[in-house]
Amino acid sequence: MVAAADRFILSGVSTEPCKLLVILGSTRQGRFGDTVARWVLSEAQKRSEFTAGLADLRDYDFPYFADPMPPSRMPADQRPQPWSSMVEDADAFVIVTPEYNHGYTAILKSALDSLYDEWVRKPLAIVSYGGFAGGARAAEQLRQVAVELQMVPTRFGVVMPFARMLFDESGTLKEPARFEPSIAAMFDDLAWWAGALKTARRS
Ligand SMILES: Cc1cc2nc3c(=O)[nH]c(=O)nc-3n(C[C@H](O)[C@H](O)[C@H](O)COP(=O)(O)O)c2cc1C
Repeated sequence: MVAAADRFILSGVSTEPCKLLVILGSTRQGRFGDTVARWVLSEAQKRSEFTAGLADLRDYDFPYFADPMPPSRMPADQRPQPWSSMVEDADAFVIVTPEYNHGYTAILKSALDSLYDEWVRKPLAIVSYGGFAGGARAAEQLRQVAVELQMVPTRFGVVMPFARMLFDESGTLKEPARFEPSIAAMFDDLAWWAGALKTARRS
């Protein structure tokens, strides 16, 4: 006899790979975020639970939000493309965010605000970087906003203090073992939620 809680786990987790979108939230000239995002993407590509791709917000046009109605009430064909389709297609997200004045970036907020349904009931993991606090304050702000978008922010994430000093000039982590536990926990957590929510969304 399978206990009720176990039945939920057995029936909740999809076995096929989930589509993971790694979103790079820094767009300024000379940014360090692309190094962090490339590392996250390469780690994601090692995981059998995901097929992973990168969305660089530099490649999209996000003006300050000026639409007459919120995206939650906007017809699908009026939402910004190809951003809407990319996010709609994804089952899970990792946002790679720096910390600017104890928050995350304005462009990232615009990218989140420009859609609604596309985010709903999908999991979000966060990799933050910055100075002493490793972008932790930006990550916490992002979690609050994610809940309002009906996403599921994972408990586990990666916090990278003084990130520029963590990678060598070729963009390789100098001490990969230091971040192995946190990125493994993050992807384990994200994979569980991605599978469970994918199955639940279908039903
Ligand atoms: C406008 C601005 C504000 C910043 N504020 C913070 C901060 O509050 N806390 C912190 O840890 N680092 C802060 N930093 C340092 C950044 O986290 C660090 O420069 C990081 O590399 C920025 O990411 P990027 O290079 O991908 O843009 C700030 C940097 C900028 C440009």
